[in-house]
Amino acid sequence: MSAYEVIEHNYDVVVVGAGGAGLRATLGMAEQGLRTACVTKVFPTRSHTVAAQGGVAASLGNMGEDHWQWHMYDTVKGSDWLGDNDTIEYVTREAPRAVYELEHYGVPFSRTEDGRIYQRPFGGHTTEYGEGVPVSRACAAADRTGHAMLHTLYGQSLKHNAEFYIEYFALDLIMDDDGTCTGLIAWKLDDGTIHRFNAKLVVLATGGAGRTYFSCTSAHTCTGDGAGLVARAGLPLQDMEFVQFHPTGIYGVGPLITEGVRGEGGYLTNSEGERFMERYAPTFKDLASRDVVSRCMMLEIREGRGVGPLKDHINLNLMHLPPEVIYERLPGIAESARIFAGVDVTKEPIPVLPTAHYNMGGIPTNHWGEVLRPTEDDPDAVVPGLMAAGECASASLHGANRLGTNSLLDIVVLGRATSIRAAEVIDKDAAVPNAGKDKADAILDRFDKVRHANGANPTADVRLEMQRAMQKDAAVFRTAESLADGVKAIAGIWDRLADLKVTDRSLIWNSDLMETLELQNLMANASAIITGAEARKESRGAHAREDFPDRDDKNWRKHSLAWVGEGGKTQMTYRPVHEQPLTPLEEGGVDMKKFAPKKRVY
Ligand code: FUM
Repeated sequence: MSAYEVIEHNYDVVVVGAGGAGLRATLGMAEQGLRTACVTKVFPTRSHTVAAQGGVAASLGNMGEDHWQWHMYDTVKGSDWLGDNDTIEYVTREAPRAVYELEHYGVPFSRTEDGRIYQRPFGGHTTEYGEGVPVSRACAAADRTGHAMLHTLYGQSLKHNAEFYIEYFALDLIMDDDGTCTGLIAWKLDDGTIHRFNAKLVVLATGGAGRTYFSCTSAHTCTGDGAGLVARAGLPLQDMEFVQFHPTGIYGVGPLITEGVRGEGGYLTNSEGERFMERYAPTFKDLASRDVVSRCMMLEIREGRGVGPLKDHINLNLMHLPPEVIYERLPGIAESARIFAGVDVTKEPIPVLPTAHYNMGGIPTNHWGEVLRPTEDDPDAVVPGLMAAGECASASLHGANRLGTNSLLDIVVLGRATSIRAAEVIDKDAAVPNAGKDKADAILDRFDKVRHANGANPTADVRLEMQRAMQKDAAVFRTAESLADGVKAIAGIWDRLADLKVTDRSLIWNSDLMETLELQNLMANASAIITGAEARKESRGAHAREDFPDRDDKNWRKHSLAWVGEGGKTQMTYRPVHEQPLTPLEEGGVDMKKFAPKKRVY
């Protein structure tokens, strides 16, 4: 029996996380009259979506011909044929509607001369099923698109009377004896109270796990909390080995310099001043997809053509762009470059390096956001009462590699999809479930143990060790040796996790305790990433193995499922990719012959 007093709440829906996906889900639920709470560890407009820069992809065709079928093709190819084609069709078809909806909600998009939404080119977005020229598909609000979206969606959610529980940290999901999710327990950070949210549906929208790596573009809050929650609930994580490295993180510190810089005409050079991408990707050059660009940069550095005293990074040039383009279209990165690299972008190149940016993998879902617990008989079996959306989920829109600007699209289309499905599955008149007190007691026992941990290892030391191991052993290029080292290192760090030291025992603004709980979540992510990467004996998308340089569709065109158990022990199983699109050709769908797997060149 737990010593903590628990404050109870009952809702139709509880959304965890208030980034773009969480807010779009919250807004959609509230719009439909579902009693909705959004529980978030940071103030909504400080969520990491605020850092998204370059744009949101949609085939509006404002700056040249475009079609959703071309967008679908680019996304399938970008995913290196690991994406689920039903999800990809759903999202790319819905994209123009979703962007106009954002416009009507109030997102202040940049404008063309004639007043339409401004669009810029981004890596891997093309015309004519990859055979034509690059297309301008990224709908942009200068280079602060995520910021604009986040503020707009928060305002809209408030307008629809969604209730916000801000600075509450989700401890664990409540699962009943039949495996249905019936809510969660959260800790209120500013007064130390404990809250039980009973709900007919929980939607996880907790963002990515960039902080598993030493150098990343992600905020300190990106600790993969959703993955931790589902792993502890006995559910698997999908395709976690696919971690995207953004080509242009600022050297040494990590903040993002948007690919929109290259979309506006910026380019990369090596120590010889050479625009080396012309050699590797003769057609799309600096606008090849980002896994390709990141690998080319690392090859240049490896072969001695990096810049700087240590020859360990690359230059990103935009000095040739007219200053008005920089000040109108790229003001944010001009400021970031000045603050973090001391560079005036009108005069000097920005020093950049591929930096961990995005988790393609996550909690497996279908395109409605329903969380899956695949079995041998049913690879698409759904967990009742649980959904996920956004970077914490794997629907799988991005497969093995995400195209830039498809993440802001993902969060609005798939965030909204959860609410469409919720309206179908939730009975507003039914009682809110309550799985019993013992479920909360078990969760609070774990919390209490962590709170009073008095071992030998301070959280910050263990976290740093994990981040360094992931950076060294599971980065842009991987080998059997590096991955075996990584598996061993992460297993050793799990052992240290059992002997943690938390120095602050209070319940109010205890960042030591919160960071320890976050570390446990990060470790679930790290185990799934490294074990999945070691197991996958091929190269595909962001997973580049030097010992298996080719993609192997016969054996490996399948989703991986990592089941992270006690002490980080992780088992791998697999489930098939959804090769069929949503709509048959004769009913207006795409001709799948055009989408057959082939070698991915740009
Ligand atoms: O480069 C960028 O602006 C990043 C966009 C994205 O990750 O989608």
